[in-house]
Amino acid sequence: MTAEVPPGPRLPGLVQALLTLSAPTVVFPAAARRYGVPFRLELMPRGRTVVALADPADLKDVFAGSPSVFHAGKGNELLRPLLGGDSLLLQDGDAHARARRLLAPAFGRREIAGYRTLVEEVTAEQLGRWPRSGRIRAHILLNELTLEVILRVVFGVTDPARLDEMRPVVARAVDAGPVMMIGLAIPALRRLWPWTREIRDLATIHDFLGEQIAAARRDPALPDRRDLLALLVRASARDAQGLSDKELRDQLMTLLAAGHETTATAMAWSLLELARQPRIQDRCVAEIAGGGTGYLDAVLKESLRLHPVVPMVMRELQEPATVGGRTYPRGITLSPSVVLAHRAPAAYPRPADFDPERFLGDVPTPTTWLPFGGGARRCIGASFAMMEGEVILRQVLGRYRLEPVGSGREWPRARNVTLYPWRRARLDLRPR
Ligand code: HEM
Repeated sequence: MTAEVPPGPRLPGLVQALLTLSAPTVVFPAAARRYGVPFRLELMPRGRTVVALADPADLKDVFAGSPSVFHAGKGNELLRPLLGGDSLLLQDGDAHARARRLLAPAFGRREIAGYRTLVEEVTAEQLGRWPRSGRIRAHILLNELTLEVILRVVFGVTDPARLDEMRPVVARAVDAGPVMMIGLAIPALRRLWPWTREIRDLATIHDFLGEQIAAARRDPALPDRRDLLALLVRASARDAQGLSDKELRDQLMTLLAAGHETTATAMAWSLLELARQPRIQDRCVAEIAGGGTGYLDAVLKESLRLHPVVPMVMRELQEPATVGGRTYPRGITLSPSVVLAHRAPAAYPRPADFDPERFLGDVPTPTTWLPFGGGARRCIGASFAMMEGEVILRQVLGRYRLEPVGSGREWPRARNVTLYPWRRARLDLRPR
């Protein structure tokens, strides 16, 4: 069976892991040129054989594969101390299917439309704190903005004193890098700083989430609340199989970790591109004035194509499986490469150009546009993120003209599983 595993670099596993994690936008295209696609990577320290895929036929088979065979949770094991065991990101099989079924109604089309006004309010408030003009690091400000959206729109926190207390704790706790995460799993290190601080922060957040859940359960105004937690609590009160308090807590923590910095990073790349492309920026402004949405949507999609926030997704095979006509052995990890799929010239002529026209009027196919992954594990917050992104674009461009600093280009830098602009998206704001 191993004969079916394609060739790849022969560097030591640890070196391959470091290179892949720190520079996927360089490593993937280079390995694809050298070995063709699919190619294999050995990712130490967990001793994983990963096969990178990008061909639409391969991606179709992976995303259509049975969730009981194509597991995604194991790859996120490191996040267990942060998220808790009942997290969508860690679950597989029946537990994942059940949690997904219980959470999905809070992410439906009508529900997303329902959160919009609240997102607009939070965005307007946050932009009110941005400078009137001058140089900013957009990624930092957007991180604050998206954190506020999670706290208020997802968790439903309204008490200003509580928000002031929780903001720095939450920001610090979810900022944990790989060293922090690995250390949390080692009992001897858990007694040392900075792990003691992380454990204390996590306990504070758990208490806070427990409090929010309990308050929502007894809130007489629950039926009128517009936040996502209220919706989940209403649903779990109706359903005998609904989410317990502990499950709700872990899932809220997951939404915080998965939904905050990803969206901020996606928007940082979008604003950087718009600053570099005055014509495209003008067209957005014209569309905003005319009340349309199609072009803004295309800008967001093109930005997620050219600058995918998550460079690859992973599925570990629980049984041998055939993908694209090739049979892979059990235990191997198949990895749709977002970076490679998004730069395939067959799907995207002149792939290095930022050209929103590609997405005008076209619904992208799930095997050529996959910034949110695909199949049963596709990002549950994708529509939420697109709505939030559109609100942010609308309000930022309504207030400011964006100008680049220098060439306006920034290298992607890896942090955890995301790629953010190296200099945190430096740009100049001019009032409109
Ligand atoms: C532009 C912003 C975002 C990007 C690029 C993004 C990307 C992704 C990707 C690539 C995955 C893995 C998909 C797979 O394995 O096939 C994922 C999963 C997930 N995302 Fe997002 N995401 C974003 C925003 C959000 C938001 C706003 C939320 C919640 C409010 C969210 C919650 C989740 C959750 C819970 C999962 C796990 C789904 C599962 O395993 O069933 N994400 N996201």
